Amino acid sequence: MVNLIIDNKEVQVPKGTTIIEAAKKIHIKIPSLCHHPDQTVKGNCRICLVENDWGKLVAACSTKVSEGMKIKTNTKFVRDTQKGVLELILANHNQDCLKCDRNGNCELQDLCERFNISNNSLDENIVEAHEIDDFNCSIVRDYSKCIKCGRCADVCREVQNVDVLAATNRGAEYEFIPRFDRKLHETECVFCGQCIKVCPVGAIYEKSSIDQVLTAIDDEALHVIVQIAPAVRVSVGELFNLEPGSITEGQIVSSLKRIGFERVFDTNFSADLTIIEEGYELIDRITNGGKLPMITSCSPGWINYVEGHGEDLLGHLSTCKSPQQMFGAISKTYYAEKLGIHPSKIFTVSIMPCTAKKFEANREEMNSYGFPDVDAVLTTRELGRLIKSQGIDFANVEEEAFDAPFGIASGAGAIFGASGGVMEAALRSVYEILTKQELEKLEFEEVRGMQGIKEATVNINGNDIKVAVVHGLGNAKKVMEEIREGKSDYTFVEIMGCTGGCIGGGGQPIEKTKETKQKRMNALYTIDSNKEHRSSHKNPTIIKLYEEFLGEPNGHKAHVLLHTTYKGRKL
Ligand code: SF4
Ligand code: SF4
Ligand code: SF4
Ligand code: FES
Repeated sequence: MVNLIIDNKEVQVPKGTTIIEAAKKIHIKIPSLCHHPDQTVKGNCRICLVENDWGKLVAACSTKVSEGMKIKTNTKFVRDTQKGVLELILANHNQDCLKCDRNGNCELQDLCERFNISNNSLDENIVEAHEIDDFNCSIVRDYSKCIKCGRCADVCREVQNVDVLAATNRGAEYEFIPRFDRKLHETECVFCGQCIKVCPVGAIYEKSSIDQVLTAIDDEALHVIVQIAPAVRVSVGELFNLEPGSITEGQIVSSLKRIGFERVFDTNFSADLTIIEEGYELIDRITNGGKLPMITSCSPGWINYVEGHGEDLLGHLSTCKSPQQMFGAISKTYYAEKLGIHPSKIFTVSIMPCTAKKFEANREEMNSYGFPDVDAVLTTRELGRLIKSQGIDFANVEEEAFDAPFGIASGAGAIFGASGGVMEAALRSVYEILTKQELEKLEFEEVRGMQGIKEATVNINGNDIKVAVVHGLGNAKKVMEEIREGKSDYTFVEIMGCTGGCIGGGGQPIEKTKETKQKRMNALYTIDSNKEHRSSHKNPTIIKLYEEFLGEPNGHKAHVLLHTTYKGRKL
């Protein structure tokens, strides 16, 4: 351990700790912008300068503590220096806070408040003219807001292994942009949105579909319905000052009804449908010598990644559409038929924890008999904005239940939102379908939790089935290499593009603490354990859907509507 003094207070921390982390231990928050607790040290912004024993300025985020060190974080010299750095950043920053996506949740704005800087106190604002990159359907990059911290490039390279962003130019001219000065859609970007989650300011955000949805609601010729993904209900409350992991299904349904959606349905229902199709596809591959391991296909960030980086592995992907798209397909066919509404008059909205879902919904192959499965996708953050824009007191609104017929879902559908959830849901159904016996214990603890790669072996009818669960594309790359080299003995692999699965998706509220994702995950398991039906094949609405409309699982009609194909996407 190392002993040091920060602002006249003794502190003891492990060797290798940085000054910024040591100060945090005694509740001193040194200003920072490029520093992120989950990332490597970058030292780009210089706002964290503090004074050492010799009156010299050192960067608190990159300087490690040493025995007997004395640090001052709050002298006039330090305050003036930090404020000067902040003013330099602001001088080249487009300060249109009122129009900004991050207004009220911006690290730069927080620092302005701390240093008592208002827009008016700045003599000169010399924002360089920058194009806004909004040429794709998921993510917008506004370079006039970028403070050149480098966090986006770090997460894209170190966590997602996509590595499309890099620092260009030298000295004060450097900036973080897609390599070779391309637009995002011209790169291998998978639209996972993880760069949005680490950006301290409003320089990256989702492309909003709120206006499109409100226009559809106002159109009396349209029947506007909405589905809500599993992970949204345990995170949107954070945007209304509720604790992470607060379960707000009832408040979401009630709010959406007030906004004007005709029916509010549950994506957990179509997650059950995905499990039936995926489960039967797995059984078919095992019994008829199909390509193994089979890999899940419900995470569009992962699909974009494998199309761009693993064309040779496309045959391993399940052909199932994701729950979002399966819901859309059923809404434009079975549901349209039942209500006697032409599919062109049904406008299907999804509320998703994911920016890549916008890209997925826009794929030309994602249609049912010529009608797009899903018409518009809102992220969890957009849902929060939509509810606020309507003046709804979300935390206190009376709760309402999902509508029939797609409001009934099993607990297995709920856990889809957590890494390991699809695998656990599939194992519950595949085991019981193949053995014709009830599982004594429905929980598969080995595939739960935040470990990057999890493994389990399940004995089904005397055969050991080895499975793996992977989240984050950097981890996916490791498993892809094992499969390529023939070293993998897995039968089934779940891969989610984002860390933690959908609970950590790029469209989720920006996590304020490290524990946030775990709390959201725990809430999904609570929903599961409180459900009457906990396995997808026992969901009565799913049983009825096959009886009345789809016929056999994995049958012809199901294949036409609920399955898809993939293609290489090398740029
Ligand atoms: S990034 Fe922050 S400081 Fe800049 S305009 Fe947006 S809210 Fe204001
Ligand atoms: S969306 Fe994902 S892949 Fe694209 S730049 Fe951001 S982190 Fe990289
Ligand atoms: S876009 Fe955001 S995360 Fe990336 S360098 Fe700019 S401010 Fe930092
Ligand atoms: S936070 Fe230390 S240099 Fe940016």
